[in-house]
Amino acid sequence: MVRQRDRWAEWLAERRFGGDPEVRAELLEKLGRTRDRVLDNVHQLEGRTLLDVGCGDGLIAFGALERGAAEVVFSDISADLLEACRELATELGVLGRCRFLLAPADELSDVADSSVDAVTTRSVLIYVRRKQDAFAEFFRVLRPGGRVSVWEPINRFGSGFRTSESFWGYETSGLDAVIDKLDAVFAGLQPDDDPMLDFDERDLLELAERAGFTELHLELRADVEPMQPRSWQTFLHTSGNPKLPTLAEAMDRALTPAERRLLAERLAPAVEAGRGTHRLALASLWAVKP
Ligand SMILES: C[S@@+](CC[C@H](N)C(=O)[O-])C[C@H]1O[C@@H](n2cnc3c(N)ncnc32)[C@H](O)[C@@H]1O
Repeated sequence: MVRQRDRWAEWLAERRFGGDPEVRAELLEKLGRTRDRVLDNVHQLEGRTLLDVGCGDGLIAFGALERGAAEVVFSDISADLLEACRELATELGVLGRCRFLLAPADELSDVADSSVDAVTTRSVLIYVRRKQDAFAEFFRVLRPGGRVSVWEPINRFGSGFRTSESFWGYETSGLDAVIDKLDAVFAGLQPDDDPMLDFDERDLLELAERAGFTELHLELRADVEPMQPRSWQTFLHTSGNPKLPTLAEAMDRALTPAERRLLAERLAPAVEAGRGTHRLALASLWAVKP
C-alpha cells in the first residue's frame, strides 16, 4: 500500500502547482531567484555551516551546498520532507555534508549555542505562532558575526481586501451568499489571528531586534497588478498553502451543485481571461549577531 505523504510534503510536491506542469516550471524558476536572494543575504558560505529552518524539499539548503557550504543542517517538522532531502542528498553525493533535524523553528535545542554561521528560513514563520521564540533560537545558535536571512510573504497585505464583492481578487458582486459560504470554509481554517496573518514586515524587524540582533536590514516588495490569465482547472485544484483545501474541495464541502455551477459560470471566464487584481507582498530581512 502506498503511504500518503504528510500535508507539508504533499503540498510542496503537488498541491501548490494544481497538477499543472507549466505552473510548476514557472514557480520553480521564480523560487530559484528567491533562493539566490536568501543566500546572497547571508554572504560568505564557502566552508561555513548553515542551518535552514523549515527546509521543505531543500530549496535553500541544497543551494547552500552548491555554494560550497561545509555543512548544512536541514531542519523541519515534516519527517517526510527530511527523508526526501536525505534521499536527494544521497543521490547528489553530498550526504556527508548534511545533518537532518526534526524540530520546530521555535525549539532547536539539538543545535548547540553559537554553532552555525548562517540561519535561513523561507516561508516558514507564517506557520509559527511563537515567532519571538523562533528568533531567539536563531540568535542563540548563531556564532557572533553570523547572519540570519528570512524571507516571508506578508499575507495581511492581500487579506484586507477580502469582501463579499470579490473573491481572491476577482469581482463576484451578486454572488454574496455563495462567496460567504466559501469564505466561511477558509476563514474557519485560517482565522485572522492565524500565525499566517498575525504579523507584517515591521513585526519581523522588531522580533529580530528584540532577539538581540544589532545590524538589521529589511526590504519589502509589494505588488498590485492585473492577474495573469490562468487555466480554470489549475485554479480549481491549487491550494494556497498546506493547511487549506483546494477551491474544488472547498466548493464540494460548502456549496450545493447549483451554487457550484453558478460560481464556475461567473469565475471561470474571469480566471481564464485574467480579469482580476493580484496583491502580493514579500519581506526579506537579514541581520547580524553582534
Ligand atoms: C512553504 S514550505 C517552505 C519550504 C522551504 N523553506 C522552501 O523555501 O521551499 C513551509 C515549510 O515549513 C515547514 N514548517 C511548518 N511549520 C513549521 C514549524 N513550526 N517549524 C519548522 N518548520 C515548519 C513545513 O514542513 C514546510 O516544509
